[in-house]
Amino acid sequence: MIKNIAVIFGDGIGPEVTQQSIKVLDNVAEKFGHQFNYNFCLMGAAAIDKTGDPLPDKTVEICLKSDAILFGAVGHPKYDNDPAAKVRPEQGLLKLRKSLQLFANIRPVTAYSSLLHLSPIKSKVLEQVDFIIYRELTGGIYFGEKKTNEEHTWAYDSCAYTREEVERIAHLAFQSAQRRKKKLTLVDKANVLETSRLWRKVVQEMASQYPDVQLNFLFVDNAAMQIILNPRQFDIILTENLFGDILSDEASVISGSLGLLPSASIGNSNAMFEPVHGSYSTAAGKDIANPLGSILSAAMMLDYFNLKEEAALVREAVSWTISHLFVTKDIDPINFYFTSTVGELICDYVSGRITGDINQENIELRKSTII
Ligand code: IPM
Ligand code: MN
Repeated sequence: MIKNIAVIFGDGIGPEVTQQSIKVLDNVAEKFGHQFNYNFCLMGAAAIDKTGDPLPDKTVEICLKSDAILFGAVGHPKYDNDPAAKVRPEQGLLKLRKSLQLFANIRPVTAYSSLLHLSPIKSKVLEQVDFIIYRELTGGIYFGEKKTNEEHTWAYDSCAYTREEVERIAHLAFQSAQRRKKKLTLVDKANVLETSRLWRKVVQEMASQYPDVQLNFLFVDNAAMQIILNPRQFDIILTENLFGDILSDEASVISGSLGLLPSASIGNSNAMFEPVHGSYSTAAGKDIANPLGSILSAAMMLDYFNLKEEAALVREAVSWTISHLFVTKDIDPINFYFTSTVGELICDYVSGRITGDINQENIELRKSTII
């Protein structure tokens, strides 16, 4: 299979984690006889520095022509504390999501048994947690009308949704529930917000098309508490853009680190794969960031290409590194391995170079794992 992949390294740790995914994809290609062609393009602060624009037209052009997009992260501290900045790195990402109509952001949350003890949540609460957040990505308050006056004495952001915007992601969420534990939870704030009442009405009406799926509703404040109190109750969480953004960071505590969470952003004719974590600028260039969020996003891309066996192998490799505690500093601040070492180990596993015992000394020298 030949696939053209647009690669956007972006900012901060984006380049170093995405490079690990490319290494892994190359090993997958070699083992299974595929060809992945990469087209590198700019976005975020890196694009502002070079072109003045957080999303150059050329990037949109390349992404539109590609079979999928692999993306790292955007953001730079020099913009974070400058409310007057005219251009911001994040604008690039939001505009790309909108231009490609990537309306469904899919964020799986998994508890890894060897990492349970590292979470601030009790292990018995976390065992076997496995749910997916379907976050609406191109509507709501992120894209509504926003304004502030010149004196900055007032500002507003409006939140709007149409029936169609709710329906298209809700269909994907219902279908995903059908393939899994058949439970869908709509998270909203229908006791206060008109948009949430629309979501509830539309999703409730759609439920008759999916009679095998059990549908329930939770207000977002309660959902935030339930995710920590009893996360096993969830199978698919469906929610609007801002609530999904917040809840997915919260849910990352279940996995042990935000660095572990992958995501897929799906539209009708395009798809982008990116870790949930941000640019984490203080770690940039130090080879300490967790590459697993990106590598698991690459696995989601392989699934999207219908390369199921390949995707399963990458996930198996990731689980193998985690269960052997070959993990980065975010997970184990004392006995940690480098970004590139974890990437290398996953490549070795994927290509079958790891068969039995592994040479700990070589790993510690940031070498390969072969004896
Ligand atoms: C995410 C990020 C983005 C978002 C930012 C960088 C604009 O936090 O993908 O979750 O809020 O959607
Ligand atoms: Mn976020």
